[in-house]
Amino acid sequence: MQIEFPRFSPDEADALVGFLTGEEWPYHAGVQEARAIRQRVADGVYDDEENRTFWVLADGERAGLIRLQDLADDTPMFDLRIRAARRGQGLGTTAVTWLTHYLFDEFPEVRRIEGHTRQDNRAMRAVFRKSGYVKEAHYREAWPAPDGTVHDAVAYAILRRDWQSGTVTLPEWDDEPALP
Ligand SMILES: CC(C)(COP(=O)(O)OP(=O)(O)OC[C@H]1O[C@@H](n2cnc3c(N)ncnc32)[C@H](O)[C@@H]1OP(=O)(O)O)[C@@H](O)C(=O)NCCC(=O)NCCS
Repeated sequence: MQIEFPRFSPDEADALVGFLTGEEWPYHAGVQEARAIRQRVADGVYDDEENRTFWVLADGERAGLIRLQDLADDTPMFDLRIRAARRGQGLGTTAVTWLTHYLFDEFPEVRRIEGHTRQDNRAMRAVFRKSGYVKEAHYREAWPAPDGTVHDAVAYAILRRDWQSGTVTLPEWDDEPALP
């Protein structure tokens, strides 16, 4: 399979609307309507100083979308979506490997990259782990779902120095002083 990551251009708003409204995205908040998506494109939410968006093209087909956010910060974040029909083929893992390389290459001052997901998003958590990201945080009842339920959220991150050396530095979990 040939996989490419062309940058999204604002004149591709129609394709973006088709991608985002073409199926359900249960791990993302609410349903996005076409008009709101077009407005967000016009507002620069997908491509400006702080955001860049890339398609995941699999054999020429738009199979997924990567959105890089907070690019002016020390710790950029990302969102990733792979169409249901193309999941489980390694695209998510390939996309995270690619965006990690892209961010560390393109932004030399970036020391770490972070991603959040819902606790029960087992596929995304598997992708994080396979891509060298480490769980750093667990937010209890922090992720309200559209159906009214509330889920825990988890945060993963990768350090530039780990990425460079192929190591995995775990957080210092046992750093609490002993209780009196
Ligand atoms: C999460 C997502 C990006 C993963 O993309 P993908 O192309 O399916 O990922 P890959 O094929 O590279 O790998 C998926 C891994 O998850 C594992 N996985 C999938 N479903 C799983 C489940 N229910 N339980 C445990 N592991 C699961 C697969 O086994 C695979 O790991 P393996 O290769 O070690 O077997 C994709 O499912 C998606 O877009 N989901 C909807 C949007 C979303 O949740 N985005 C994340 C928002 S933060």
